[in-house]
Amino acid sequence: MKILVTGGLGYIGSHTVVALQNDGYEVIIIDNLSNSNIKVLHQIKKITGILPDFEKIDLRDKEAVSLFFKQYKIDGVIHFAGSKAVGESVEKPLLYYENNLTTLITVLKEMQKNKVSHFIFSSSCTVYGQADKLPITENAPIKPAESPYGATKKMGEIIIKDTTKASTIKAIALRYFNPIGAHKSALIGELPLGVPQNLIPFVVQTAAGIQKTLSIFGNDYPTPDGTAIRDYIHVVDLAKAHIAALKRLITNKNKTNCEFFNIGTGKGSSVLEVVKAFEKATGKKVNFKIVDRRAGDITTAYADTSLANKELGWKAELNLEDALKSAWAWQLKQ
Ligand code: WQD
Repeated sequence: MKILVTGGLGYIGSHTVVALQNDGYEVIIIDNLSNSNIKVLHQIKKITGILPDFEKIDLRDKEAVSLFFKQYKIDGVIHFAGSKAVGESVEKPLLYYENNLTTLITVLKEMQKNKVSHFIFSSSCTVYGQADKLPITENAPIKPAESPYGATKKMGEIIIKDTTKASTIKAIALRYFNPIGAHKSALIGELPLGVPQNLIPFVVQTAAGIQKTLSIFGNDYPTPDGTAIRDYIHVVDLAKAHIAALKRLITNKNKTNCEFFNIGTGKGSSVLEVVKAFEKATGKKVNFKIVDRRAGDITTAYADTSLANKELGWKAELNLEDALKSAWAWQLKQ
């Protein structure tokens, strides 16, 4: 089986390529290298012994995508390519709508044209906003998007659902909670461009002395220690969820032609708990200060993973400490 992984040189994409190759799939990566590095291709080979096929294509180039689907016989698509910085999306909404939605439409159109029917989509728990009930299940109400980034995930899911109703495409959207950590080889990991927006890369860079102090965005949330709670999932577990979802489609186990699964650990951790766990796991001190809340942040999110456990036969196996240790090992390699 030959699987196209768009954005396959990115953080989650590269970990998923490793998992696919370990599971015997042939992989071809499309990436425009706007937020990734070609070196990752060779790091993947160092881990699995197999160099994935690679095409440097920007999915906004419709002709190039059309040519690609003519050239390669693809059995399935895992679609990661897109922009993912919440803050940037507020400043540049049209960039996000173009880069996340028109590219999704182009890929789906080419799949339809070339009779490729298995599609896995990188979605996000951001579609739930601040959920009313915790843990969050897949039928929690979809809330108004807090950012254009979040809106592209919501709209992306609608575009996919409508397309599956009118075509032979079968899709699974995985709603990620907070992906963290790195492969145990420390050969691939998160490569944030510039100052990290997300918590773990900032914690790791503070411990490494690259950043001076971690700013904790608010300790006046209605939580036990006042800091916001998230469900931090090891990226290696997250990668495996994509393989489980792909297998479900290939073996026709899907119950409908468009399914959604929450992919998290089911456990919430506060910002302060993460900082303390990092210090304990690595023996490194993290300087921090409490500052104002960040606009758009929600108080608490953690997943009810029972549907993915039952239907995908997938469960997170690695814990917060494993993920934090792997993030630190990756940082030491930089
Ligand atoms: C986690 C917690 C912050 C940085 C977003 C997107 C989600 C996905 C992951 C793309 C929050 C706090 C953070 C810092 C802090 N995006 N924090 N100081 O916001 O839960 O999710 O990133 O795939 O779709 O919504 O993740 O890591 O930015 O923040 O205190 O320097 O850490 O306030 O409580 P978030 P995050």
